[in-house]
Amino acid sequence: MDAARPPLITDDDLDDLEREAIGRVRGRVLEIGAGEGENFGAFDHEVEWIGLEPDADRRIELAQRAREWRHEAEPLDAVAERIPLPDGAVDAVVGTYVLCSVTDQASALAEVRRVLRPGGTVVFVDHVAAPPGTMKRGVQRVVTPFSTRFCHGCHWDRDTGAALADAGFEVDEARLVRVPSFPFGPTRVLVYRGHVPEAGAG
Ligand SMILES: C[S@@+](CC[C@H](N)C(=O)[O-])C[C@H]1O[C@@H](n2cnc3c(N)ncnc32)[C@H](O)[C@@H]1O
Repeated sequence: MDAARPPLITDDDLDDLEREAIGRVRGRVLEIGAGEGENFGAFDHEVEWIGLEPDADRRIELAQRAREWRHEAEPLDAVAERIPLPDGAVDAVVGTYVLCSVTDQASALAEVRRVLRPGGTVVFVDHVAAPPGTMKRGVQRVVTPFSTRFCHGCHWDRDTGAALADAGFEVDEARLVRVPSFPFGPTRVLVYRGHVPEAGAG
């Protein structure tokens, strides 16, 4: 994925990519790190949405907006590393700008995989690390201990595409783009759609 320089796109173009990916999910959908419900407008109206958000203030706003969008379930007060749902409970998991924030990415992805049914879908959108050896990667590495502490746990130096592969997800479509509006200039953003292999596959 890192061989060619990804295209530089605008915030609006990125929004379109996000909405397109989120709009494809169907059935019972868990959104992790749902924040204040910024993604509601992107989901298909038939989706049965379950939100998960550990931040109490955000969860209040999320619950309010969820009701406005006719989603009845109260958002879960939990972290992605410990999802209070049974195995195979959902058809899809969505997360935007949350895999940069979780404390333990591998544990969170293992939990996501556990709660998905075989063949279930994931959609993740996140900023990811610059290529190894670049000055930007060096800046990201230096800044991350501070941003994790002071900016809601945000890690700038994560290779989330590799983490998704390591967690056993199979890719359906992965778009790597660069977006200029980040604090250290053009930053790589991964728009990822994939699935859990069916039982016995792979
Ligand atoms: C950058 S915000 C993104 C919010 C929203 N998804 C969006 O795209 O606007 C990251 C969110 O992840 C949540 N978060 C942080 N750590 C988390 C964890 N371990 N598990 C689940 N969510 C977490 C934060 O509370 C916050 O709402």
